[in-house]
Amino acid sequence: MKNVLTAQNVKKSFLSGDVQTQVLRGVDFCVDEGEFVAILGESGSGKSTLLYILAGIDKPDEGDVKLLGESLLTLSDERLAAMRRRDFSFVYQFDNLVPNLTVYENVSLPLLLDGKKEGEIKDKLLEILEYLGLGERLSSYPRQLSGGEQQRCAIARALATSPKVIFLDEPTGSLDKERGRQVMELLIDINKRTNVALIMVTHSEAHAAYADRIVRMEDGKII
Ligand SMILES: Nc1ncnc2c1ncn2[C@@H]1O[C@H](COP(=O)(O)OP(=O)(O)OP(=O)(O)O)[C@@H](O)[C@H]1O
Ligand SMILES: [Mg+2]
Repeated sequence: MKNVLTAQNVKKSFLSGDVQTQVLRGVDFCVDEGEFVAILGESGSGKSTLLYILAGIDKPDEGDVKLLGESLLTLSDERLAAMRRRDFSFVYQFDNLVPNLTVYENVSLPLLLDGKKEGEIKDKLLEILEYLGLGERLSSYPRQLSGGEQQRCAIARALATSPKVIFLDEPTGSLDKERGRQVMELLIDINKRTNVALIMVTHSEAHAAYADRIVRMEDGKII
C-alpha cells in the first residue's frame, strides 16, 4: 500500500491570554492510499487541530507533513493552495454549504474555482449527485435540505475534485442516529469504490468501527 500522507513529530501550541497551551505534543501519523482511518478522542484533545495541520490549512510549530513524500511546509502559498484545492477535501460538522448557492452550484464550486469549465464537469457532477441520492435536489438551496441531505451534499462536493484525501471532522455529529448511519454506509461505499483516503474525526465508537483503523488521541498525542 502506498503512503499518501504522513505527519512526523507534529507540535502545535496556541496562546490564550498569556498562557501558551501545547495542543499537539509530537504527533506521528500516516495514511495509505484508499485507507479509512478514524480518529477518536476527548473534546479538546487536539483532533481538529491535527486535521487542519494535515490538510495544510494550519502550520505546525515543529515537525513535518508530507503528501506523497513532498513536504507541505516548504511549498509556496500558491502551490499549497493548488494542492489543497485538488488533492484534499474537507467535510465539517456543520455549515458546510454556501447558503445562497443551490446543491448543484455548491458541488461545482471547487471545480470552477480550479478553472474547470461547466461543460466538462457537468456529467461527472450529475453522476456523483445521483449516486449520493441528490439527483432530485439539484436546484434546492441548503436550507431546503434535511441535515442528512446537507451532509451528503458536502460529501458530493468533497468527491467532485477526485481528491487523494478527504478529511471529515465529525461528519455525523449533527445527525440523528439513522442519518448518521446512512452517512457512514456511504463513506464505506466510497472507500470501497475509490482510491481516496478518508480521515474522519468522530466521538462515536460505533462510527469509528466502520474504519479500517482507529487512532486514539489523548492530550495532544496519539496513544
Ligand atoms: N486557533 C486557536 N487558538 C487558540 N486555541 C485553540 C485554537 N484552536 C484550538 N485551540 C485549543 O486547542 C485545544 C484543542 O482543540 P481542538 O479543536 O483541536 O480539539 P478537538 O479534539 O477537536 O475537540 P472537539 O472534540 O471538542 O472538537 C482546545 O483547548 C482549543 O481551545
Ligand atoms: Mg474538533
